[in-house]
Amino acid sequence: MQKVNEIKNMDCDFIPLVAQVMEIRKRGDVPLAYIRTYGCQQNVADSEQVKGLLSQMGYEFTDKPDDADFILFNTCAVREHAEDRVFGNVGALKALKRKHPSILIALCGCMMEQEHIANRIYKSFPFVGLVFGTNYIHELPQLLYNCLVNGKRLVVRGNKDTTIYENIPTRRDGTFKGWLPIMYGCDNFCTYCIVPHVRGRERSRNPENILEEAKQLIANGYKDITLLGQNVNSYGKGLPQENKMTFAQLIGEIDKLEGDYWLRFMTSHPKDCSKELIDTIAQSKHISTHLHLPFQSGSDRILKQMNRHYDRAKYLEIVRYAKEKIPNLSLTSDIIVGFPGETYEDFKETLSLVKEVGFTSLFTFIYSPREGTPAAKMDDPVSYQEKNKWFQELLALQESISAERCASMVGNSCKVLVEGVTGKENILQTRTSGNIIVEVEGDSSLIGTFQNVEITSARNWILKGKII
Ligand code: 5AD
Ligand code: SF4
Repeated sequence: MQKVNEIKNMDCDFIPLVAQVMEIRKRGDVPLAYIRTYGCQQNVADSEQVKGLLSQMGYEFTDKPDDADFILFNTCAVREHAEDRVFGNVGALKALKRKHPSILIALCGCMMEQEHIANRIYKSFPFVGLVFGTNYIHELPQLLYNCLVNGKRLVVRGNKDTTIYENIPTRRDGTFKGWLPIMYGCDNFCTYCIVPHVRGRERSRNPENILEEAKQLIANGYKDITLLGQNVNSYGKGLPQENKMTFAQLIGEIDKLEGDYWLRFMTSHPKDCSKELIDTIAQSKHISTHLHLPFQSGSDRILKQMNRHYDRAKYLEIVRYAKEKIPNLSLTSDIIVGFPGETYEDFKETLSLVKEVGFTSLFTFIYSPREGTPAAKMDDPVSYQEKNKWFQELLALQESISAERCASMVGNSCKVLVEGVTGKENILQTRTSGNIIVEVEGDSSLIGTFQNVEITSARNWILKGKII
């Protein structure tokens, strides 16, 4: 049986102490921080907590590393490409540290939870003063204080502690779109994936804390709230008996909150995607008609090797049920091309599943070996060039499906949320409940509001519409 999560409030004693130190050390009028976030929405949400803490310590934010007193890269380890970018960008900070020795350069996030990476950073980049792992955000004030006052380099990592800290302040990037983490870590151990190794065991926040945060977001005018977890469908692990809830129950409870808002969630694992959840979406007032349900591969042989615990038939059964219950359902998925041992025959199964389901859009990745995962030890005879050819074939297929889907929407009317400007004069970017982008003519004062639009044209996968 899983042990019940420990829930604590963070120790805030060091917040005023850092503020005092920075009053003296700041280079300009106020202490400035530059935060760069790589990777997924969970990282974005983590950075919002880091910014909340820094704000309380008196920092303001800049988008110019040159002006900053504190530079932090929140890193991603999911694919090698993301890691290479971090190494390149950190290397480029060496000259800045030489020019302004008082600045503190720090790294956090998933990459730092890999021992070989943390060691490499420590040895190769002596100008990096602080490294902290994914479960240490609540310790940031104390870590900063120790680095700034003692001038020592600090590395704190290792994600064994599953305590959930509830009172970390959050400074959100958006004013109408908000991320709401409902759980942390992952227990699924898909064989290609580094996440369970770097984010630790799965644990869920208490429903009352989630509901309270959702209530506050709605009261503060947030219109598009996304519940976050590596596998939201298994929400509930580590909750005390009296608080036990499934994800369907949780999202059903949030949906009862009054207000004009959309509720989204990601990511869903097909093995835990219940009919109860689909029924809840179908009956809800606020839950969006978008389901991001990664299937990764259409081949049963590869799904087994990936340790995904469902097969093609089960995936298609969920899709069939969801399409039947949720009108205008928009499906998206993640797909990995070129998993070790995958043949072109296997890949053709992926293509045929893509055709059969008719996704709105796809997030497609060429397999990237991650040290410490089982897949990294598997035989991988197919060359990168060959995998890239398959990848291009998949992209071309999805492009034609997306274009067809978009064309079929011309003439329809729908509700959209105005998200921002496009760069084209007087043209705004809006998004449907199904997560499809529609460009409309309008004034920027509409940003952050819901509007009804009629879809007037479709070019490839870009929709154009007019406000009605
Ligand atoms: N190589 C390529 N893609 C990966 N993903 C996770 N690990 C890897 C890897 N080693 C993809 C999966 C996952 C998404 C977030 O990233 O498709 O759903
Ligand atoms: Fe990685 Fe699988 Fe967990 Fe998603 S469910 S984070 S792919 S191990």
